[in-house]
Amino acid sequence: MQFQRKIFPMSPRKPIYEGKAKQLFEGPEPGTLIQHFKDDATAFNNVKKGTISGKGVLNNRISEFLMLRLQEIGIPTHFIRSLNMREQLVKAVQIIPIEVLVRNVAAGSLCKRFGLEEGKPLGQPLIEYTYKKDALGDPFISEEHAFAFGWATPQEIDEIRMYAFRINDYLSGLFMGVGIRLVDFKLEFGRLFENEREHIVLADEISPDNCRLWDFKTGYKLDKDRFRQDLGEIEDAYREVARRLGVMPQESDSNIIPVAKETKKK
Ligand code: TMP
Ligand code: ASP
Repeated sequence: MQFQRKIFPMSPRKPIYEGKAKQLFEGPEPGTLIQHFKDDATAFNNVKKGTISGKGVLNNRISEFLMLRLQEIGIPTHFIRSLNMREQLVKAVQIIPIEVLVRNVAAGSLCKRFGLEEGKPLGQPLIEYTYKKDALGDPFISEEHAFAFGWATPQEIDEIRMYAFRINDYLSGLFMGVGIRLVDFKLEFGRLFENEREHIVLADEISPDNCRLWDFKTGYKLDKDRFRQDLGEIEDAYREVARRLGVMPQESDSNIIPVAKETKKK
């Protein structure tokens, strides 16, 4: 008699939400979610679409690394633990529908809106907010919009601002240590009900999808602007960020992108 291995099919996971670059599934315990990182990339509010091969794996590792470092300095985050190459277990939070943009150097929409030259350092870090609503093109808002529309309270915005500046200070130093200028980035926060209290926690992801990262010496772009602006070598740029942070899935000692080789410390 032929031996037949019985295969127990895994029960399908309940999808909760599908975003442009990530998918959320119901987690194994109440109050948890599985965050799955896709290779899909979009820009200009979904107008430009594509895939960046291996991006999901790299962003999962990069975001895990950065969230853990931020937890170490006391920033509460939704991150619990990594599950596999593309997935992490996170706390289920109620996302505040505001994108928090932190900028150190003029780039992207700031240059367009204010006629600035890309690369101009700002006198001090700048925080801006947009309303997270693709159908409206994520319009820029002031704190007052958030209060008037009931998206966040003044206390919550105070806390978010404080976290955003601390995150900027810390990550600017961390990236500087691996030869990268943290030009700007986007954060999302959520509300977590824990210990009979409501807390603000950092959610979403931090990766080259939502940061501008430039090689310190050459200015070479190591982020999603390579996709937005059709600059090529997109995958290599993401891999280079992972490599410099020491989180490449296959450890590699040498620089990945040729231009970064020029910047290698002698
Ligand atoms: P911006 O210059 O296009 O306003 O973008 C500022 C930063 O925020 C940049 O690092 C990219 C990031 N970002 C996102 O992650 N998602 C978005 O929807 C937008 C508009 C920006
Ligand atoms: N995240 C936005 C989009 O998917 C905008 C961007 O990153 O450029 O379209």
